[in-house]
Amino acid sequence: MPETTRRRFLSAGLGLAGIGALAACSAGTPANNSTGSTAPPPPSRPAPSPTRGQRVVAATLTPGQTKIDLGRVTATTWAYNGSLPGPLLRATAGDFLRVRIQNQLPASTSIHWHGIRLHNGADGVPGITQPPIEPGAAYLYEFVAPDPGTYFFHPHSGVQLDRGLYAPLIIDDPREPGGYDAEWIVVLDDWTDGVGQSPDAILAAFRAENGSVGTGMNHDMSGMSGGMQHGGTTSPLGDAGDVVYPHYVLNGRVSTAPSTLSGKPGQRVRIRFINAGADTIFKVALGGHTMRVTHSDGFPVRPVDTPALYIAMGERYDVTVRLADGVFPLVARAEGKTGGALAVVRTGAGAPPTPATPVPELDRQALLGTTLQAADEAKLPEQSPDRSLDVQLNGQMKPYAWGINGKKFGEDTPLLVTAGQRLRMRMSNMTMMSHPMHIHGHTWSLPGSGGLRKDTVLIPPMQTIEADLQADNPGAWAYHCHNIYHAEIGMMTTLRYS
Ligand code: C2O
Ligand code: CU
Repeated sequence: MPETTRRRFLSAGLGLAGIGALAACSAGTPANNSTGSTAPPPPSRPAPSPTRGQRVVAATLTPGQTKIDLGRVTATTWAYNGSLPGPLLRATAGDFLRVRIQNQLPASTSIHWHGIRLHNGADGVPGITQPPIEPGAAYLYEFVAPDPGTYFFHPHSGVQLDRGLYAPLIIDDPREPGGYDAEWIVVLDDWTDGVGQSPDAILAAFRAENGSVGTGMNHDMSGMSGGMQHGGTTSPLGDAGDVVYPHYVLNGRVSTAPSTLSGKPGQRVRIRFINAGADTIFKVALGGHTMRVTHSDGFPVRPVDTPALYIAMGERYDVTVRLADGVFPLVARAEGKTGGALAVVRTGAGAPPTPATPVPELDRQALLGTTLQAADEAKLPEQSPDRSLDVQLNGQMKPYAWGINGKKFGEDTPLLVTAGQRLRMRMSNMTMMSHPMHIHGHTWSLPGSGGLRKDTVLIPPMQTIEADLQADNPGAWAYHCHNIYHAEIGMMTTLRYS
């Protein structure tokens, strides 16, 4: 067992009183554990510990069952520290993060720091980088966050993300150019837990269909009727998600009881959007305003003005807006589905918008992330690929099955690369649905999008997108669709190198 994971294998049953002991353990007391064949390749880097002068940002997260007021709707769900979204975790690029988990859930869990290029041992994927954190157990994540930007964290355990287990993670730029007066963090989510079917029941029904993946193109049209079930509209992104949600929430509030974001007319506000949904692409707009998109998945882009923006599951976008005078709807419409999430933006007098308030910006052309280009300072150094891998996304809604290269996770063949190589992944979507594909531990550079940096890229039906990465962070890295039901059913594999 490599040192980096060994020191994290802390025994189950450690109560709250054990936190002090936990800290002591983390100083490097070895514990002998073996994970057998699922053990990751040995990371070639030693486990990090804070260097002299490095700032340490410490936090404690307690995932547990709790009752959440979504506004006019109350749901018993699972959340971090009893709040929805969970508590904001914020640090500056280069800081050392030390996060203690105290699992009070009735199930084992884990935390993945989505988008952060951290060392493999802290990546939070049970069976690949760590053992599950059992109920009642404590666990310690320690890592350095190298890149500024908008991120979030969530469990990598079953479909727990589709409960209330998610929270924003903001890494500030020590050289932030600023240029804005205020900041709003906007977390979007599709909601069923404690109101409609539970995520586990939804997954069980999908599993019961017992579909197989197959290879090549799938022109199966049953998904179309699936879209109709939602009473939804047709979308350029293909079939809508697979799940019907009773609600969509913005910062934990349903659209009939929205939260208010206040500002002053003329102020420039940076909005950090995070899509924490499990099965929903959102189309977002701020009524009466144009948004200037400045960052995608944490990294700066050449700024583009747009009336509306698509945000897929796992994606983040930063935009700036210059606030007008009055009251405006900030809307996130569930693409291809019925309904959406809402917040009220208030800078002056006026009646608040309702979910029925028309938002003409939503009828305009929405920006798709892959049309953006990297800002010069975000580009990877120019290099032609040393290796190319073809990755096919396969599957269909009826009978429910999703996979990669014709295989479900578990039967998959890992993607291999050699340390130091520039890898090109050519991802071809052979299905009738869009898939937001996510890579752990790396940020791709998209050659078809002017070097745009992304860790989550939406691939529309029947399209191919190339994504390059620099193999400079050895380990076993999950690579999967961020539709959490697709991932759990099998649209997942790993990228491995040592
Ligand atoms: Cu946000 Cu592997 O996930
Ligand atoms: Cu998918």
